[in-house]
Amino acid sequence: MANNGSIEETIIDLAQLSDHAQVVYAVRHLTAQMGFDENQQSLIATAASEASTNVIRYAEKGKVTLRAVGDGDRVGFEFVVEDRGPGIKDMEAAMEEGISHGHGLGLGLSSIKRIMDEFDIQSKPGTGTRIVARKWRRNA
Ligand SMILES: Nc1ncnc2c1ncn2[C@@H]1O[C@H](COP(=O)(O)OP(=O)(O)OP(=O)(O)O)[C@@H](O)[C@H]1O
Ligand SMILES: [Mg+2]
Repeated sequence: MANNGSIEETIIDLAQLSDHAQVVYAVRHLTAQMGFDENQQSLIATAASEASTNVIRYAEKGKVTLRAVGDGDRVGFEFVVEDRGPGIKDMEAAMEEGISHGHGLGLGLSSIKRIMDEFDIQSKPGTGTRIVARKWRRNA
């Protein structure tokens, strides 16, 4: 995914479970500023929150980068959630709805993919995991 026209970014460190609240707040704030409607703001915040919760749960720490992106005359919101944790061994299983190796419902990754317009996940055992997701703003 090319990144032309990035405006400003917000970086949030993830170190404890409560940090995901800051992610939700910042995503809602930024997407509202960008003109996403309330429904879209909540969906995008949910997606970013799921990715952040995974980092804290499975990798202990990491960070989230939030930014507006432009592509031609489209405006979008992007989040990058990354960690240097254990990585995901079986990506196919992890992306499947209902499969959890932790204690959740296994809906997190599949819901991020469903909510966002673009979704990319890179993960290597021992190296960590990086998710890049984008949602384009629809003009009313
Ligand atoms: N950042 C990560 N580092 C290591 N493993 C991860 C990471 N994110 C997800 N996983 C693995 O992928 C699986 C699927 O993640 P997903 O978020 O879809 O479900 P879950 O976290 O198990 O449950 P839920 O999100 O519904 O509470 C996890 O059980 C975990 O094994
Ligand atoms: Mg999860």
